[in-house]
Amino acid sequence: MKILLLGHKGMLGSDLMTRLSADHQVIGMDKEEIDIVSPHECQNAISETAPDIVINAAAYTNVDDCETDREGCFAVNAEAVKNIAEACRNMKIWIIHFSTDYVFDGTAREPYHEDAPCNPINVYGESKLAGERYLQNLSDNYTLIRTSWLYGLNGKNFVRAILEKAEAKNYIDVTMAKTNAKADGPSTLSVVDDQIGSPTYTKDLAAATALLIDKNARGIFHVTNRGSCTWHQFAVKILQEAGFDKIVVEPIKSSDLKRPAMRPAYGILSTQKFIHTTGKATQPWQLALQNYLESCKMHN
Ligand SMILES: NC(=O)c1ccc[n+]([C@@H]2O[C@H](COP(=O)([O-])OP(=O)(O)OC[C@H]3O[C@@H](n4cnc5c(N)ncnc54)[C@H](OP(=O)(O)O)[C@@H]3O)[C@@H](O)[C@H]2O)c1
Repeated sequence: MKILLLGHKGMLGSDLMTRLSADHQVIGMDKEEIDIVSPHECQNAISETAPDIVINAAAYTNVDDCETDREGCFAVNAEAVKNIAEACRNMKIWIIHFSTDYVFDGTAREPYHEDAPCNPINVYGESKLAGERYLQNLSDNYTLIRTSWLYGLNGKNFVRAILEKAEAKNYIDVTMAKTNAKADGPSTLSVVDDQIGSPTYTKDLAAATALLIDKNARGIFHVTNRGSCTWHQFAVKILQEAGFDKIVVEPIKSSDLKRPAMRPAYGILSTQKFIHTTGKATQPWQLALQNYLESCKMHN
């Protein structure tokens, strides 16, 4: 199939580009080629390339910046989805779009199914939900994939941040954690322990997207790596796998970090529908992390 992939230089986009190019003709576009906020540019790109599928992996993903740049965040995460859906509608083109567990409020105590009520608690989540609504209202030929806690080779992410902190040992707060170097004794890394979710390797999500394409699957799907943990448990595992056994990871509360955007306390997504549709389950997050760290070594 001919696929137009928007956001192909992003963390997920670059893995989609690699994975889907094995079986399909993929045309990648990112900020240098297109501004998806422009209806005109979306219309032109889609009519000129005439793809069978448009995949939108472009987004405004800095969750904290969204709090102070509501307009910019809604332009990319909501209005641009409207542009893409409108441009695809006349040509009946299949749209595959990505969303997030942050459309939920995190008050659940069991994994969210695809039809669970949405109730975002930050601007990023609101903007992604608005994008979902445009997609659902304007297209009857879409696949909406919600995912969570992404990390990959080609982007800033939690795993990379923890490894950088571990290497430097004296940085202060960049992500869900902060480090305090001590003159003697072990270095301490403080990481939040009151948010639970499913870390997901973008390479696995790209493979799962390829499976959904093979199955011609439409509708909403939740796709993450299998299992769940807190950010604190994730950090402990990252450091253990990477051989940083002298760093102590101290659990802290989200409120200790004073970040601009609130995060849902619980973000586990049920992947039963994906398993039922494709006949395949994603690998556990611990194995995905090992794969990622091996790939990091190979790429330096
Ligand atoms: N990251 C996560 O933890 C996470 C979790 C759940 C769901 N998701 C969703 O998964 C998808 C992929 O996320 P990601 O982390 O891979 O994103 P990413 O690394 O931030 O990549 C997004 C790409 O879109 C580009 N882009 C931004 N604005 C654009 C515009 N106006 N026109 C054209 N391109 C534009 C970005 O370019 P610049 O870099 O130059 O801005 C970047 O290359 C998104 O839908 C995101 O909401 C992500």
